[in-house]
Amino acid sequence: MMLSHDDIVMLLSTQGGAYDQLLDRALATKLHYLDNKVHLRGLIEYSSVCTKDCFYCGLRSHNNRALRYTMTDQEVLSCARQAMELHYGSVAIQCGERSDRAFTDSITRLVKAIKALSHGTLGITLSCGEQTDDVYRQWFDAGAHRYLLRIETSNRELYYKIHPHDDNHSFDRRLRCLDSLKKIGYQTGSGVMVGLPFQTVHHLADDLLFFQSSQLAMVGMGPFIPHPDTPLWQYRESIPSVEERVGLTLRMIAVLRIMMPEINMVSATANQTLVPNGRLLAIQAGANVIMPNLSPDTYLDSYSIYPNKHCADETSRCCGSTLDRQLATIGHEILYDEWGDSKAFLEVKKIGEHSNTVDDE
Ligand code: 5AD
Ligand code: SF4
Repeated sequence: MMLSHDDIVMLLSTQGGAYDQLLDRALATKLHYLDNKVHLRGLIEYSSVCTKDCFYCGLRSHNNRALRYTMTDQEVLSCARQAMELHYGSVAIQCGERSDRAFTDSITRLVKAIKALSHGTLGITLSCGEQTDDVYRQWFDAGAHRYLLRIETSNRELYYKIHPHDDNHSFDRRLRCLDSLKKIGYQTGSGVMVGLPFQTVHHLADDLLFFQSSQLAMVGMGPFIPHPDTPLWQYRESIPSVEERVGLTLRMIAVLRIMMPEINMVSATANQTLVPNGRLLAIQAGANVIMPNLSPDTYLDSYSIYPNKHCADETSRCCGSTLDRQLATIGHEILYDEWGDSKAFLEVKKIGEHSNTVDDE
């Protein structure tokens, strides 16, 4: 559905009965287009080493208090094996950003190894930052088929308030990477943080319009959580309260579900970190993907993008039947052993194939 900037601002500001109506509408839209199914991606936090310096993230290269690790191939493969045993259907490899050859080759090797291990049955999502077209293609050819690259904010000025303004943090390159991922054939996802310093409801409305005009297949949105070892910590008093940030995130999810009924939307861990039932609230607002953490215990504390992330991950670990039960209380169920591709992507692909056939004739 097409909504104007003003409509979106109004919906993001709803309270009371109007808010309940918004959430009801979003849930009804999701159930109509995607049924009550939730897809799982076993999250593998491969490495906390990062060459970037984003002002919000605990893994930024200038944070010398961050603990750095990179999993061994065996550890990654054991996570993948666990995902298979748990019938998750897909894994997602996430890490800090590096572009050196040793790193990019490692990802290629791991993607191939996971494909071989699972006889091609595990779906693979990558979230390994900005790379050259060649690297994106190499990873795609190895077997990765979904890629997440959050834009963080679609507003250029705000982007440079939350990132250094230098060659290593270029807003334009981020846009080019998203384009390149789509062209190569990935199901491409992006997303933003909600409740950032200097962010207004107008920025957020524009973010939703950006997702729609970019025809993304997947979106992830979560509340900003200030990290004490980062530059944005100094603004922690000026951002919306925890309740407001979670509420705004839920409104963002709900409005986007109405605008883009068939995309995959993740229930971000950051929601669960801030409120105990955050994961379920996001599902009720329109999200349809959950990413339970499969990383070995020893690394959980070190992957500290924001404070207390691992506490929420602890909850996701007891996943399996607990998550089944929790989802059943809100009338949802997990779809096991499937990739859970974005219906929006499959539709666009079908139309593309059809127009090719027409062109060929
Ligand atoms: N609060 C919430 N989300 C964060 N991210 C990074 N730092 C924070 C933070 N302090 C998100 C960003 C990034 C993803 C890996 O984690 O959106 O893309
Ligand atoms: Fe690195 Fe990603 Fe954190 Fe930026 S958000 S510092 S790229 S891990």
